[in-house]
Amino acid sequence: MNHLLKLSDLTKAEITDILDLADELKKNHKAGNDEPLLKGKTLGMIFQKSSTRTRVSFETGMYQLGGNALFLSSRDLQIGRGEPVQDTARVLSRYLDGIMIRTFAQQEVEDLAKYGSIPIINGLTDYAHPCQVLADLQTIREKKGTLEGLKLCFVGDGNNMANSLIAGCIKMGMKVAIACPDAYQPDADLMAWAAANGDFACSSDIDAMVKDSDVVYTDVWASMGQEEEAKERQKVFADYQVNAARMALTHEGCMVLHCLPAHRGEEITEDVLEAHADEIFEEAENRLHAQKAVLVKLMK
Ligand code: CP
Ligand code: NVA
Repeated sequence: MNHLLKLSDLTKAEITDILDLADELKKNHKAGNDEPLLKGKTLGMIFQKSSTRTRVSFETGMYQLGGNALFLSSRDLQIGRGEPVQDTARVLSRYLDGIMIRTFAQQEVEDLAKYGSIPIINGLTDYAHPCQVLADLQTIREKKGTLEGLKLCFVGDGNNMANSLIAGCIKMGMKVAIACPDAYQPDADLMAWAAANGDFACSSDIDAMVKDSDVVYTDVWASMGQEEEAKERQKVFADYQVNAARMALTHEGCMVLHCLPAHRGEEITEDVLEAHADEIFEEAENRLHAQKAVLVKLMK
């Protein structure tokens, strides 16, 4: 593994290795035994979109591993004024030991990896959010003891989260059901791959998708960059809500996860979010541990 661009690039064994290391780093951190595994290394973090969790967990993670992190807003970088990604990649490769990038087009992340000579980590694109799903898998495995055979249902927009959940969960032997409007389905190639390689369903019949789930997952109806569609999306997605009636259809002990930020009263009700707050905020915490594992695997 040279980069983390999208989860479909990884094998089941590679994902398992990351999750195992994430668990170990979490245990060591809680015991006050962080090891300086990345002493002297610097991670550049390029942000073309907002972030709370990704920025703070990567930055803190690098410090805990004995390294440094540079926050690079695209507003300040020449990339924001049109310097080509090919040049940015070759320049930054001479200063840094790794780059985490949050941007719009997946191609930009792939190009950074192609033209640069250091590990590239996708910190969210319109297509994928692999770091989030590694933390999600760590959280599910922690609570349920296993991933194999569990059913995860994603309710909402077939967005970056849906795509990465499909790739990550199917690789790990989970069943995946996506409840979304017909016009907002996840990536077609990814769905075809999932159907050929695992137990996968996608439908606008929300209750049928949610039924017998072990994990229910949701995300905002309008992602970053879709602000102008927000009003229209509120109408389209009005029924795509994780609420008590939906949770009644799931298996006993069903978890609820949300990548956050959450819009209470839209994709999730306040009562369901609060009833599952322990899981959702553990999931947010696990961003730190899962990403430290990724950083160590790629940069040590
Ligand atoms: N879930 C997530 O990536 O959060 P941020 O947008 O705050 O980084
Ligand atoms: N789908 C959301 C995820 C945020 C973590 C977005 O892209 O804005």
